[in-house]
Amino acid sequence: MLDNINTVNDITVRARIFFYSIYVAALVVLIASLLTKFALPWAEVAFFALLIFVADSFTIQLPKNAFISVSFAIIFAATLLFGPEAAAIASMTTIINISDIKHKIAWYKMLFSACNYAISAYIAGYTFILIGGTVGGIATANFPFVIIPVIAASTIFFVANTGLIALGLGIIHNESPVDIWRFDYQWLIPNYYALGVLGLILAQIYDSFGPASIILLIVPLLIARQTFQVYMKLRSAYMDTVSALVRALEAKDPYTRGHSERVAGYAERIAREIKLPEEKVEILRYGALLHDIGKIGIARKVLNKPGKLTDEEFKWIQAHPKIGAGIIGHIEFLKAAVPAVFYHHEHLNGKGYTEGLSGDNIPLLARIMTVADSFDAMTSARSYKPALSTEKAATELMACRGSQFDGRIVDAFINSMGISLTEKDSNEEEQLKIAIEDQV
Ligand SMILES: [Fe+2]
Ligand SMILES: [Fe+2]
Repeated sequence: MLDNINTVNDITVRARIFFYSIYVAALVVLIASLLTKFALPWAEVAFFALLIFVADSFTIQLPKNAFISVSFAIIFAATLLFGPEAAAIASMTTIINISDIKHKIAWYKMLFSACNYAISAYIAGYTFILIGGTVGGIATANFPFVIIPVIAASTIFFVANTGLIALGLGIIHNESPVDIWRFDYQWLIPNYYALGVLGLILAQIYDSFGPASIILLIVPLLIARQTFQVYMKLRSAYMDTVSALVRALEAKDPYTRGHSERVAGYAERIAREIKLPEEKVEILRYGALLHDIGKIGIARKVLNKPGKLTDEEFKWIQAHPKIGAGIIGHIEFLKAAVPAVFYHHEHLNGKGYTEGLSGDNIPLLARIMTVADSFDAMTSARSYKPALSTEKAATELMACRGSQFDGRIVDAFINSMGISLTEKDSNEEEQLKIAIEDQV
Protein backbone atom coordinates (compact mmCIF):
# COMPACT_ATOMS: atom_id res chain seq x y z
CA MET A 1 0.00 0.00 0.00
CA LEU A 2 1.92 2.95 -1.29
CA ASP A 3 0.77 5.74 0.92
CA ASN A 4 2.44 7.75 3.60
CA ILE A 5 0.65 5.99 6.44
CA ASN A 6 3.67 4.08 7.61
CA THR A 7 3.24 3.37 11.25
CA VAL A 8 0.30 1.91 13.04
CA ASN A 9 0.19 5.07 15.17
CA ASP A 10 -0.62 7.18 12.10
CA ILE A 11 -3.92 5.42 11.52
CA THR A 12 -7.23 6.01 13.24
CA VAL A 13 -8.24 4.17 16.41
CA ARG A 14 -10.87 2.28 14.39
CA ALA A 15 -8.21 1.06 11.96
CA ARG A 16 -5.88 0.14 14.80
CA ILE A 17 -8.61 -1.93 16.47
CA PHE A 18 -9.18 -3.70 13.15
CA PHE A 19 -5.51 -4.53 12.64
CA TYR A 20 -4.96 -5.68 16.22
CA SER A 21 -8.06 -7.90 15.99
CA ILE A 22 -6.61 -9.62 12.93
CA TYR A 23 -3.26 -10.13 14.70
CA VAL A 24 -5.02 -11.65 17.73
CA ALA A 25 -7.23 -13.87 15.53
CA ALA A 26 -4.16 -15.16 13.67
CA LEU A 27 -2.37 -15.79 16.97
CA VAL A 28 -5.34 -17.82 18.18
CA VAL A 29 -5.31 -19.82 14.92
CA LEU A 30 -1.56 -20.48 15.23
CA ILE A 31 -1.69 -21.50 18.89
CA ALA A 32 -4.69 -23.76 18.24
CA SER A 33 -2.87 -25.27 15.26
CA LEU A 34 0.30 -25.98 17.23
CA LEU A 35 -1.64 -27.42 20.16
CA THR A 36 -3.79 -29.71 18.06
CA LYS A 37 -1.35 -30.73 15.32
CA PHE A 38 2.12 -30.66 16.74
CA ALA A 39 3.12 -33.88 14.99
CA LEU A 40 3.41 -32.45 11.50
CA PRO A 41 5.97 -33.47 8.87
CA TRP A 42 7.89 -30.30 9.68
CA ALA A 43 10.54 -30.61 6.94
CA GLU A 44 7.87 -30.82 4.26
CA VAL A 45 5.81 -28.03 5.84
CA ALA A 46 9.00 -25.92 5.87
CA PHE A 47 9.49 -26.68 2.16
CA PHE A 48 5.98 -25.41 1.42
CA ALA A 49 6.53 -22.42 3.70
CA LEU A 50 9.55 -21.56 1.55
CA LEU A 51 7.49 -21.92 -1.65
CA ILE A 52 4.75 -19.69 -0.21
CA PHE A 53 7.39 -17.14 0.79
CA VAL A 54 8.86 -17.09 -2.76
CA ALA A 55 5.45 -16.91 -4.50
CA ASP A 56 4.29 -14.12 -2.22
CA SER A 57 7.46 -12.14 -2.75
CA PHE A 58 6.46 -11.59 -6.37
CA THR A 59 3.28 -9.67 -5.75
CA ILE A 60 1.65 -7.40 -8.27
CA GLN A 61 0.21 -4.08 -7.22
CA LEU A 62 -3.47 -3.50 -7.97
CA PRO A 63 -5.05 -0.09 -8.68
CA LYS A 64 -6.35 0.59 -5.16
CA ASN A 65 -3.02 -0.12 -3.43
CA ALA A 66 -3.90 -3.76 -2.85
CA PHE A 67 -1.56 -6.54 -3.93
CA ILE A 68 -2.04 -9.95 -5.45
CA SER A 69 0.16 -13.03 -5.81
CA VAL A 70 -0.26 -16.66 -6.81
CA SER A 71 0.60 -17.96 -3.33
CA PHE A 72 -2.98 -19.21 -2.82
CA ALA A 73 -2.26 -22.22 -5.07
CA ILE A 74 0.65 -23.26 -2.85
CA ILE A 75 -1.16 -22.50 0.42
CA PHE A 76 -4.05 -24.63 -0.81
CA ALA A 77 -1.72 -27.45 -1.83
CA ALA A 78 -0.21 -27.34 1.69
CA THR A 79 -3.75 -27.54 3.11
CA LEU A 80 -4.55 -30.62 1.04
CA LEU A 81 -1.29 -32.36 1.87
CA PHE A 82 -0.83 -31.55 5.55
CA GLY A 83 -4.09 -30.00 6.77
CA PRO A 84 -5.33 -26.45 7.54
CA GLU A 85 -3.06 -26.13 10.59
CA ALA A 86 0.10 -26.69 8.55
CA ALA A 87 -1.10 -24.29 5.85
CA ALA A 88 -1.81 -21.59 8.44
CA ILE A 89 1.62 -22.02 10.04
CA ALA A 90 3.42 -22.14 6.67
CA SER A 91 1.61 -18.96 5.53
CA MET A 92 3.29 -17.00 8.28
CA THR A 93 6.55 -16.93 6.25
CA THR A 94 4.90 -14.16 4.23
CA ILE A 95 5.55 -11.93 7.22
CA ILE A 96 8.78 -11.10 5.41
CA ASN A 97 7.93 -10.14 1.89
CA ILE A 98 10.63 -9.03 -0.57
CA SER A 99 8.16 -7.14 -2.76
CA ASP A 100 6.67 -5.32 0.26
CA ILE A 101 10.13 -4.36 1.51
CA LYS A 102 11.01 -3.08 -1.98
CA HIS A 103 7.79 -1.02 -2.03
CA LYS A 104 8.52 0.25 1.51
CA ILE A 105 5.27 -1.19 2.85
CA ALA A 106 4.73 -0.48 6.54
CA TRP A 107 5.50 -3.39 8.90
CA TYR A 108 1.98 -3.48 10.31
CA LYS A 109 0.57 -4.11 6.83
CA MET A 110 3.08 -6.91 6.19
CA LEU A 111 2.12 -8.49 9.50
CA PHE A 112 -1.54 -8.04 8.58
CA SER A 113 -1.00 -9.73 5.23
CA ALA A 114 0.65 -12.80 6.84
CA CYS A 115 -2.04 -13.02 9.55
CA ASN A 116 -4.71 -12.68 6.88
CA TYR A 117 -3.22 -15.62 4.96
CA ALA A 118 -3.08 -17.76 8.12
CA ILE A 119 -6.72 -17.02 9.00
CA SER A 120 -7.97 -17.46 5.41
CA ALA A 121 -6.00 -20.69 4.93
CA TYR A 122 -7.32 -22.10 8.21
CA ILE A 123 -10.97 -21.28 7.47
CA ALA A 124 -10.68 -22.45 3.84
CA GLY A 125 -8.99 -25.69 4.94
CA TYR A 126 -11.78 -26.51 7.37
CA THR A 127 -14.39 -25.61 4.75
CA PHE A 128 -12.70 -28.13 2.44
CA ILE A 129 -12.89 -30.83 5.11
CA LEU A 130 -16.48 -29.99 6.10
CA ILE A 131 -17.69 -30.24 2.50
CA GLY A 132 -16.22 -33.73 2.17
CA GLY A 133 -12.64 -33.18 1.08
CA THR A 134 -9.92 -35.28 2.68
CA VAL A 135 -6.54 -33.95 3.62
CA GLY A 136 -3.27 -35.76 4.13
CA GLY A 137 -4.02 -38.43 1.54
CA ILE A 138 -4.05 -38.52 -2.23
CA ALA A 139 -5.53 -35.15 -3.11
CA THR A 140 -7.56 -36.33 -6.08
CA ALA A 141 -8.67 -39.63 -4.50
CA ASN A 142 -12.39 -38.93 -4.79
CA PHE A 143 -12.18 -37.25 -8.18
CA PRO A 144 -14.36 -35.70 -9.66
CA PHE A 145 -16.32 -35.03 -6.45
CA VAL A 146 -13.30 -33.37 -4.86
CA ILE A 147 -13.95 -30.44 -7.22
CA ILE A 148 -16.91 -29.35 -5.05
CA PRO A 149 -14.87 -28.91 -1.85
CA VAL A 150 -12.10 -27.30 -3.97
CA ILE A 151 -14.57 -24.72 -5.27
CA ALA A 152 -15.97 -24.14 -1.77
CA ALA A 153 -12.52 -23.75 -0.21
CA SER A 154 -11.32 -21.44 -3.02
CA THR A 155 -14.41 -19.29 -2.57
CA ILE A 156 -13.92 -19.05 1.19
CA PHE A 157 -10.21 -18.30 0.87
CA PHE A 158 -10.86 -15.65 -1.78
CA VAL A 159 -13.70 -13.98 0.12
CA ALA A 160 -11.85 -14.03 3.47
CA ASN A 161 -8.47 -12.93 2.12
CA THR A 162 -9.56 -10.20 -0.30
CA GLY A 163 -12.48 -9.16 1.93
CA LEU A 164 -10.19 -8.48 4.88
CA ILE A 165 -7.76 -6.50 2.69
CA ALA A 166 -10.60 -4.39 1.25
CA LEU A 167 -11.97 -3.87 4.76
CA GLY A 168 -8.54 -2.76 6.03
CA LEU A 169 -8.00 -0.37 3.11
CA GLY A 170 -11.54 0.93 3.46
CA ILE A 171 -11.02 1.69 7.15
CA ILE A 172 -7.61 3.34 6.57
CA HIS A 173 -8.70 5.48 3.63
CA ASN A 174 -12.29 5.99 4.73
CA GLU A 175 -13.63 4.50 1.52
CA SER A 176 -16.27 1.86 0.94
CA PRO A 177 -14.67 -1.62 1.34
CA VAL A 178 -17.27 -2.98 -1.11
CA ASP A 179 -16.15 -0.48 -3.77
CA ILE A 180 -12.49 -1.28 -3.18
CA TRP A 181 -13.23 -4.97 -3.37
CA ARG A 182 -15.26 -4.63 -6.54
CA PHE A 183 -12.62 -2.46 -8.16
CA ASP A 184 -9.54 -4.47 -7.21
CA TYR A 185 -10.71 -8.03 -6.73
CA GLN A 186 -13.96 -8.82 -8.48
CA TRP A 187 -12.21 -9.47 -11.79
CA LEU A 188 -9.95 -12.01 -10.05
CA ILE A 189 -12.75 -14.48 -9.17
CA PRO A 190 -12.12 -16.88 -12.11
CA ASN A 191 -8.37 -16.69 -11.47
CA TYR A 192 -8.84 -17.84 -7.87
CA TYR A 193 -10.75 -20.93 -8.96
CA ALA A 194 -7.96 -21.65 -11.43
CA LEU A 195 -5.42 -21.23 -8.61
CA GLY A 196 -7.51 -23.57 -6.42
CA VAL A 197 -7.48 -26.27 -9.12
CA LEU A 198 -3.76 -25.63 -9.61
CA GLY A 199 -3.29 -26.18 -5.86
CA LEU A 200 -5.11 -29.50 -6.15
CA ILE A 201 -2.87 -30.61 -9.04
CA LEU A 202 0.21 -29.37 -7.19
CA ALA A 203 -0.73 -31.47 -4.14
CA GLN A 204 -1.37 -34.51 -6.33
CA ILE A 205 1.95 -34.21 -8.17
CA TYR A 206 3.85 -33.62 -4.93
CA ASP A 207 2.15 -36.66 -3.45
CA SER A 208 3.21 -38.83 -6.36
CA PHE A 209 6.63 -37.52 -7.31
CA GLY A 210 8.00 -35.59 -4.30
CA PRO A 211 9.50 -32.09 -4.01
CA ALA A 212 11.32 -32.09 -7.39
CA SER A 213 7.95 -32.28 -9.16
CA ILE A 214 7.23 -28.71 -8.10
CA ILE A 215 9.36 -27.62 -11.06
CA LEU A 216 6.54 -28.88 -13.30
CA LEU A 217 4.17 -26.45 -11.67
CA ILE A 218 6.36 -23.39 -11.96
CA VAL A 219 5.27 -22.70 -15.54
CA PRO A 220 1.49 -22.65 -14.86
CA LEU A 221 2.10 -20.54 -11.76
CA LEU A 222 4.17 -18.07 -13.77
CA ILE A 223 1.41 -17.94 -16.38
CA ALA A 224 -1.16 -17.25 -13.65
CA ARG A 225 1.05 -14.44 -12.35
CA GLN A 226 1.47 -13.13 -15.88
CA THR A 227 -2.34 -12.79 -16.16
CA PHE A 228 -2.38 -10.44 -13.20
CA GLN A 229 0.58 -8.52 -14.56
CA VAL A 230 -0.89 -8.11 -18.04
CA TYR A 231 -4.04 -6.67 -16.49
CA MET A 232 -2.04 -4.12 -14.54
CA LYS A 233 0.13 -3.22 -17.53
CA LEU A 234 -3.04 -2.67 -19.54
CA ARG A 235 -4.35 -0.33 -16.88
CA SER A 236 -1.14 1.66 -16.78
CA ALA A 237 -1.17 1.82 -20.59
CA TYR A 238 -4.70 3.31 -20.32
CA MET A 239 -3.48 5.95 -17.93
CA ASP A 240 -0.48 6.72 -20.19
CA THR A 241 -2.87 7.23 -23.11
CA VAL A 242 -5.01 9.64 -21.10
CA SER A 243 -1.93 11.54 -19.85
CA ALA A 244 -0.53 11.82 -23.40
CA LEU A 245 -3.83 13.31 -24.62
CA VAL A 246 -3.95 15.74 -21.67
CA ARG A 247 -0.38 16.83 -22.40
CA ALA A 248 -1.20 17.36 -26.08
CA LEU A 249 -4.09 19.62 -25.08
CA GLU A 250 -2.02 21.54 -22.55
CA ALA A 251 0.66 22.18 -25.18
CA LYS A 252 -1.96 23.85 -27.37
CA ASP A 253 -3.94 25.71 -24.73
CA PRO A 254 -1.79 26.91 -21.83
CA TYR A 255 -4.92 27.94 -19.88
CA THR A 256 -5.92 24.33 -19.47
CA ARG A 257 -2.63 23.51 -17.71
CA GLY A 258 -3.69 21.83 -14.49
CA HIS A 259 -7.36 22.49 -15.28
CA SER A 260 -8.09 18.92 -16.35
CA GLU A 261 -6.48 17.43 -13.23
CA ARG A 262 -8.30 19.85 -10.93
CA VAL A 263 -11.66 19.18 -12.61
CA ALA A 264 -10.98 15.43 -12.27
CA GLY A 265 -10.23 15.96 -8.56
CA TYR A 266 -13.44 17.93 -7.95
CA ALA A 267 -15.51 15.46 -9.99
CA GLU A 268 -14.12 12.59 -7.95
CA ARG A 269 -15.05 14.36 -4.71
CA ILE A 270 -18.65 14.72 -5.92
CA ALA A 271 -18.71 11.10 -7.09
CA ARG A 272 -17.56 9.88 -3.66
CA GLU A 273 -20.03 12.16 -1.89
CA ILE A 274 -22.97 10.76 -3.86
CA LYS A 275 -21.49 7.24 -3.50
CA LEU A 276 -21.13 6.54 -7.19
CA PRO A 277 -19.96 2.95 -7.84
CA GLU A 278 -16.20 2.64 -8.27
CA GLU A 279 -16.31 1.71 -11.95
CA LYS A 280 -18.36 4.87 -12.67
CA VAL A 281 -15.84 6.94 -10.72
CA GLU A 282 -13.12 5.68 -13.01
CA ILE A 283 -15.11 6.53 -16.15
CA LEU A 284 -15.79 9.97 -14.69
CA ARG A 285 -12.10 10.45 -13.96
CA TYR A 286 -11.13 9.65 -17.54
CA GLY A 287 -13.94 11.86 -18.83
CA ALA A 288 -12.93 14.76 -16.56
CA LEU A 289 -9.28 14.54 -17.55
CA LEU A 290 -10.29 14.64 -21.21
CA HIS A 291 -13.38 16.84 -21.10
CA ASP A 292 -11.77 19.68 -23.07
CA ILE A 293 -9.69 17.48 -25.36
CA GLY A 294 -11.80 18.71 -28.30
CA LYS A 295 -10.03 22.06 -28.02
CA ILE A 296 -7.18 20.36 -29.87
CA GLY A 297 -9.32 20.77 -32.98
CA ILE A 298 -9.86 24.53 -32.52
CA ALA A 299 -7.56 27.19 -34.02
CA ARG A 300 -4.96 28.45 -31.57
CA LYS A 301 -5.78 32.10 -32.34
CA VAL A 302 -9.35 31.55 -31.20
CA LEU A 303 -8.42 29.48 -28.16
CA ASN A 304 -5.87 31.95 -26.87
CA LYS A 305 -7.64 35.15 -27.92
CA PRO A 306 -7.30 37.60 -25.06
CA GLY A 307 -10.41 39.73 -25.78
CA LYS A 308 -14.07 38.91 -26.23
CA LEU A 309 -14.94 36.27 -28.78
CA THR A 310 -17.08 37.06 -31.84
CA ASP A 311 -20.26 35.03 -32.29
CA GLU A 312 -18.58 32.93 -34.94
CA GLU A 313 -15.52 32.28 -32.75
CA PHE A 314 -17.79 31.32 -29.89
CA LYS A 315 -19.49 28.81 -32.18
CA TRP A 316 -16.12 27.24 -32.92
CA ILE A 317 -15.35 26.97 -29.24
CA GLN A 318 -18.76 25.45 -28.64
CA ALA A 319 -17.82 22.60 -30.96
CA HIS A 320 -15.18 21.30 -28.53
CA PRO A 321 -17.39 18.79 -26.64
CA LYS A 322 -18.43 17.23 -29.94
CA ILE A 323 -14.86 17.13 -31.28
CA GLY A 324 -13.66 15.70 -27.96
CA ALA A 325 -16.31 12.97 -27.94
CA GLY A 326 -15.28 12.15 -31.53
CA ILE A 327 -11.64 11.76 -30.48
CA ILE A 328 -12.16 9.55 -27.44
CA GLY A 329 -15.03 7.64 -29.05
CA HIS A 330 -12.42 5.87 -31.16
CA ILE A 331 -10.52 4.58 -28.13
CA GLU A 332 -12.14 1.42 -26.82
CA PHE A 333 -11.55 1.90 -23.08
CA LEU A 334 -12.66 5.54 -23.24
CA LYS A 335 -15.97 4.93 -25.00
CA ALA A 336 -17.89 4.88 -21.71
CA ALA A 337 -16.66 8.43 -21.00
CA VAL A 338 -18.07 9.85 -24.26
CA PRO A 339 -21.42 11.10 -22.80
CA ALA A 340 -19.58 12.89 -19.97
CA VAL A 341 -17.42 14.74 -22.52
CA PHE A 342 -20.15 15.33 -25.10
CA TYR A 343 -22.63 16.85 -22.61
CA HIS A 344 -20.32 18.70 -20.23
CA HIS A 345 -21.63 22.12 -21.27
CA GLU A 346 -25.33 21.32 -21.00
CA HIS A 347 -27.36 23.36 -18.51
CA LEU A 348 -30.11 21.88 -16.39
CA ASN A 349 -32.61 24.38 -17.87
CA GLY A 350 -31.77 23.30 -21.42
CA LYS A 351 -29.92 26.51 -22.29
CA GLY A 352 -26.47 24.99 -22.60
CA TYR A 353 -24.81 23.27 -25.53
CA THR A 354 -24.13 20.82 -27.38
CA GLU A 355 -27.69 19.50 -27.71
CA GLY A 356 -29.62 21.71 -25.33
CA LEU A 357 -30.67 18.77 -23.16
CA SER A 358 -32.36 19.53 -19.86
CA GLY A 359 -32.89 18.00 -16.42
CA ASP A 360 -32.23 14.30 -15.96
CA ASN A 361 -31.88 13.88 -19.72
CA ILE A 362 -28.34 15.15 -19.22
CA PRO A 363 -26.23 12.12 -18.24
CA LEU A 364 -25.32 12.12 -14.54
CA LEU A 365 -21.57 12.10 -15.20
CA ALA A 366 -21.95 15.19 -17.40
CA ARG A 367 -23.97 16.97 -14.69
CA ILE A 368 -21.16 16.26 -12.24
CA MET A 369 -18.56 17.52 -14.69
CA THR A 370 -20.39 20.79 -15.32
CA VAL A 371 -20.23 21.66 -11.62
CA ALA A 372 -16.56 20.65 -11.29
CA ASP A 373 -15.61 22.43 -14.52
CA SER A 374 -17.45 25.66 -13.64
CA PHE A 375 -15.98 25.76 -10.14
CA ASP A 376 -12.46 25.47 -11.51
CA ALA A 377 -13.13 28.07 -14.22
CA MET A 378 -14.38 30.52 -11.58
CA THR A 379 -11.54 29.93 -9.14
CA SER A 380 -8.84 30.23 -11.84
CA ALA A 381 -7.49 33.59 -12.97
CA ARG A 382 -7.60 34.46 -16.66
CA SER A 383 -6.06 37.35 -18.56
CA TYR A 384 -9.38 39.18 -18.47
CA LYS A 385 -10.63 38.26 -14.97
CA PRO A 386 -9.22 37.57 -11.53
CA ALA A 387 -9.90 34.30 -9.71
CA LEU A 388 -12.98 34.17 -7.48
CA SER A 389 -12.53 32.99 -3.90
CA THR A 390 -13.74 29.47 -3.03
CA GLU A 391 -16.72 30.94 -1.12
CA LYS A 392 -17.68 33.32 -3.95
CA ALA A 393 -17.49 30.52 -6.50
CA ALA A 394 -19.56 28.24 -4.24
CA THR A 395 -22.13 31.04 -3.86
CA GLU A 396 -22.25 31.32 -7.63
CA LEU A 397 -22.87 27.58 -7.93
CA MET A 398 -25.69 27.95 -5.37
CA ALA A 399 -27.17 30.84 -7.34
CA CYS A 400 -27.32 28.75 -10.48
CA ARG A 401 -28.69 25.73 -8.62
CA GLY A 402 -31.61 24.35 -10.61
CA SER A 403 -31.00 26.63 -13.62
CA GLN A 404 -27.51 25.80 -14.81
CA PHE A 405 -26.60 23.06 -12.35
CA ASP A 406 -28.26 20.06 -10.78
CA GLY A 407 -28.93 21.19 -7.21
CA ARG A 408 -28.12 17.79 -5.72
CA ILE A 409 -24.71 17.83 -7.38
CA VAL A 410 -23.99 21.37 -6.17
CA ASP A 411 -24.93 20.36 -2.61
CA ALA A 412 -22.76 17.26 -2.81
CA PHE A 413 -19.84 19.32 -4.09
CA ILE A 414 -20.16 22.00 -1.40
CA ASN A 415 -20.43 19.30 1.27
CA SER A 416 -17.45 17.39 -0.07
CA MET A 417 -15.35 20.58 -0.09
CA GLY A 418 -16.44 21.42 3.46
CA ILE A 419 -17.46 24.93 2.36
CA SER A 420 -19.85 26.68 4.74
CA LEU A 421 -21.63 29.62 3.18
CA THR A 422 -22.22 32.61 5.45
CA GLU A 423 -25.40 34.70 5.57
CA LYS A 424 -23.60 37.42 3.60
CA ASP A 425 -22.55 34.98 0.89
CA SER A 426 -26.13 33.82 0.52
CA ASN A 427 -27.40 37.39 0.23
CA GLU A 428 -25.00 37.93 -2.60
CA GLU A 429 -26.49 35.05 -4.52
CA GLU A 430 -28.93 37.23 -6.42
CA GLN A 431 -26.30 39.78 -7.43
CA LEU A 432 -24.01 37.05 -8.58
CA LYS A 433 -26.70 35.40 -10.66
CA ILE A 434 -24.90 35.87 -13.93
CA ALA A 435 -24.30 33.32 -16.61
CA ILE A 436 -20.87 31.80 -16.40
CA GLU A 437 -19.82 32.30 -19.94
CA ASP A 438 -16.11 32.00 -19.57
CA GLN A 439 -15.85 28.35 -18.68
CA VAL A 440 -15.76 27.13 -22.25
FE1 LIG B 1 -13.12 22.78 -18.92
FE1 LIG C 1 -15.33 22.55 -21.88
